[in-house]
Parts: sequence; C-alpha cells; structure tokens
Amino acid sequence: MSIRVSTSALAIPVAECGGIGTIGGSGIPVPELQEDIRKAKKATKGVIAVNIMYAMKDFYELVMASIEAGADMIITGAGFSRDIFKIGKTHNIPIVSIVSSPAFATLAEKLGAAAVIVEAAEAGGHLGTDVSLRELFPTIRKVVSKVPLIASGGITDGYEMAEMMDKYGADGVQIASRFVLSKECSVSQEFKDAYLKAREEDIVLVSSPVGMPGRAVKTPFVEKMLSGADISADKCRFQCLKKCNYKYCINDRLTASQQGDVENGLVFSGANTFKMKEILSVQEIFARFVKAAESVYREKTVQA
Ligand SMILES: Cc1cc2nc3c(=O)[nH]c(=O)nc-3n(C[C@H](O)[C@H](O)[C@H](O)COP(=O)(O)O)c2cc1C
Repeated sequence: MSIRVSTSALAIPVAECGGIGTIGGSGIPVPELQEDIRKAKKATKGVIAVNIMYAMKDFYELVMASIEAGADMIITGAGFSRDIFKIGKTHNIPIVSIVSSPAFATLAEKLGAAAVIVEAAEAGGHLGTDVSLRELFPTIRKVVSKVPLIASGGITDGYEMAEMMDKYGADGVQIASRFVLSKECSVSQEFKDAYLKAREEDIVLVSSPVGMPGRAVKTPFVEKMLSGADISADKCRFQCLKKCNYKYCINDRLTASQQGDVENGLVFSGANTFKMKEILSVQEIFARFVKAAESVYREKTVQA
C-alpha cells in the first residue's frame, strides 16, 4: 500500500507472523525505499516483498533499487510489465503479478510469474475490473494451474479467507484494508478514523490521474471531485506517472491523508472496510484469521 501506508513498520510484523510483509514501493524517493527495505530485512527472517505499480515513470529504477536493497520478492500491478520477468530471472527474485482478467493471468504464468494475484472489484486503490471476487476468481482459477493463485479484494476475516481457499480453490489471500486498521500501520489516526467511521455507502469509486478508477472513502476532497468542482493542482511537483491525466496530484492527496489531512486527502480503501470496527495488532489479526478459518475446517471435518 503506497504511499507510506505499508512501510517496514507493518511489513515486519506481517512477515514475523508468517505472511509476506509487503512494502508499498510506489511514489517515494529511492533512498527512502531502500532504507525501509534494509530496515525490514534486518528486523525479520520472514519474507519481505515490495509492490511497485507499473504505471510509475521510475518503475524499473524502483524495481532495481528494491532488488539491490535485498527485497525477497517484487509484486507488480496497475499495468502489466513483460520485461520484469527477465529481470526476475537475471536476479533470481520471484515476480508476482496482480491481474484482473484470465488473459493477463495466463500471460503472467507463461512469462514466469512465481504467483498470480487475482485482484477484484472490492479491492482498495486502483482497480482493473468491476467484476466481484467470487465471480472473477473462478474464471482465472480455470486458466492458472502451475503457480499459486492468490485471491484479493474485500477479504476482512478468516471465514472469508477459508471460503476463498476451500470453496474457490485459492492458494492464499492478499489483504490490505484489514491491515490499515492495525496498530502498526503507519498512517495517521485520522486515516484510521476515516476507515472506522465509513459506512458501506461512504466507500466509492473515484477517477485517478493514473487513468484507472480507484476505490476510496468519501472524504470532503472526494465529494468535491464527484461534484465536478475544480480540484486541479497548480503544478506538477513529482512527474511520477508514465501517463498522468493530471486532474489532481495523486501523490499530494495520498500523502495528505497519510499524514492526517483527511479533508483534503485521498483515503484508498477496500469495499468492505465498513465491516471492520476495531484497530488490532498484526498478531491479533493473524490469530483471529487463523482461529476463524480453523473453525470452518473443523466443522467440515466433523460433518464428514
Ligand atoms: C490504502 C491502500 C493503498 C493501496 N496501494 C496499492 C499499491 O500501491 N499498489 C497496488 O498494487 N495495490 C495497492 N492497493 C491494493 C491492495 O494491494 C489490495 O490488493 C486490495 O486493497 C485488497 O483489497 P482489501 O483492501 O479489501 O483487502 C492499495 C489498497 C489500499 C487500501
């Protein structure tokens, strides 16, 4: 989760709990990213991945910098890079693709992805589809057979995780919003409060300068955007995207909310954030997921 939502502060405890701790690598300066990766790698023997959006102008620089700093895995989304797989082979580092269609899933597996993440319409941030997870996942399950297939978008508890793994055949899940509501996530309290206050109808689609729709909490800034008011920035300070329609500066708006200015900020969020009403430690989140999932499997064993 970029920008500075998922940093080493969150990735370390996730990795310590046995998950893949993922640092959001887009939209931050290379030295800052490298320092954060090194910090995470020093603090845990678990797996530390870096997520980098293909839409970033400095995509390859960020990938190479992450590898140099010791990342264990590169996860890419928001566009599709073919060259990244060659880099993965050369540097012996697993590349994981985030896709939202069977065609890109097939391509990713063919080109050498170590795993494929199916990201559906319920996800937070930039969206590649308007199809729900339970509709999209089976279409991709049919075409990916050699590498792990991960379900993502709107998963908030262990029952949903068990459902995706047991009923839909997912090999794992990718979870974002649940971890924003963790003690360790380095966003402002105001950002977390926006999550806690959000009702189902407060989580909406916005247009992003990246050229994709995005899912976010309806903050005053988003209300302004949806009303058609002028939200454009004066000048571009970052030149961060390959193609930017520059309706507003996404870097400024994401940074604003991360630092506490939710009024003027963009608060990316999954569609099911309204179901979560507690800030927990990462360890507690893992424990609750495992307990709920185990109860599902136990019930099945008893029934059988
Ligand atoms: C605050 C936030 C920031 C995100 N940033 C990124 C990102 O930088 N790159 C990316 O590929 N996905 C990003 N995502 C999408 C997540 O990685 C994830 O796939 C999705 O949100 C899963 O749905 P969930 O939030 O309901 O668990 C972001 C999501 C959120 C909520």
